[in-house]
Amino acid sequence: MVQNMDLGLKGRKAIITGATRGIGRRIADLLASEGCDVAFCARKADQVAEAARDLQRHRVNIHGSVVNVKEADAYKAWLESAAETLGGVDIFIPNVSAGGGMEGEKSWYRNFEIDLMGTVRGCEALMPTLEESDGGSIVFISTTAAVETFLAPMAYNAIKAALITYAKQLSQTTFRNNVRVNTVSPGPIYFEGGAWAQIKADNEAFYDSIVAQQPSGRMGSPEEVARCVVFLASPAASWVSGVNLIVDGGFTKRVQF
Ligand SMILES: NC(=O)c1ccc[n+]([C@@H]2O[C@H](COP(=O)([O-])OP(=O)(O)OC[C@H]3O[C@@H](n4cnc5c(N)ncnc54)[C@H](OP(=O)(O)O)[C@@H]3O)[C@@H](O)[C@H]2O)c1
Repeated sequence: MVQNMDLGLKGRKAIITGATRGIGRRIADLLASEGCDVAFCARKADQVAEAARDLQRHRVNIHGSVVNVKEADAYKAWLESAAETLGGVDIFIPNVSAGGGMEGEKSWYRNFEIDLMGTVRGCEALMPTLEESDGGSIVFISTTAAVETFLAPMAYNAIKAALITYAKQLSQTTFRNNVRVNTVSPGPIYFEGGAWAQIKADNEAFYDSIVAQQPSGRMGSPEEVARCVVFLASPAASWVSGVNLIVDGGFTKRVQF
């Protein structure tokens, strides 16, 4: 039972993919600060070690591993061993993306394997363990580029859209077994070392044109997305399942009924 908007996260166990920087890092940080044990992965060993050291300041169990979600067998093996090390899983957040790109079929396969299959394989590997939780929760990370036309016809936008449909359908079958599934779709999010910082460095006029479309006149931060993800992941959102929460400061212009 949730009291006074306590998120009810203390003692829960979470697995997050891609948590060394940006949105995933802030999700891991907030979950750990709320008392969750966290297992996460990324590809660069030094950054995994740095993130693990930093997250340990919350005095919870932190397990960082070097895993490429594209390598299906190694990814599945890591998910299973992470679940065992944590002693169960209540929360799964498949956050890794291959990012945008206009390299023809190469981009399509990359986004398919990493964004889509990284999420699908993760859900399939962890579902039996999530079903053992008294309140399992999965939060997909999509993008506003999936719900409105954005920039150009890109594999990233279309594959992220597939995630939203998959989340909704999955949510219909899993809630009976106590597992909620939701999606968060952020608009453009700025952080040092992130894609928009790179775009700003490469083409400031284009970057400024995107900022000009923001009703607030600024980009969002990883923190502003992470708070929404953590809420949806928590027992405080026990009656929320199958939604796609747009977190974009009003960047998208459609009316969402
Ligand atoms: N930033 C935005 O404006 C924005 C907007 C909308 C949606 N999103 C979505 O939000 C999510 C996070 O994006 P972000 O921009 O915050 O961070 P990001 O720069 O995409 O990095 C995310 C994390 O994923 C790891 N990673 C990348 N590829 C990996 C792989 N193949 N296997 C394992 N780990 C991998 C990275 O570490 P390594 O490089 O060391 O592996 C890093 O820790 C993505 O799903 C993205 O599509 C972002």
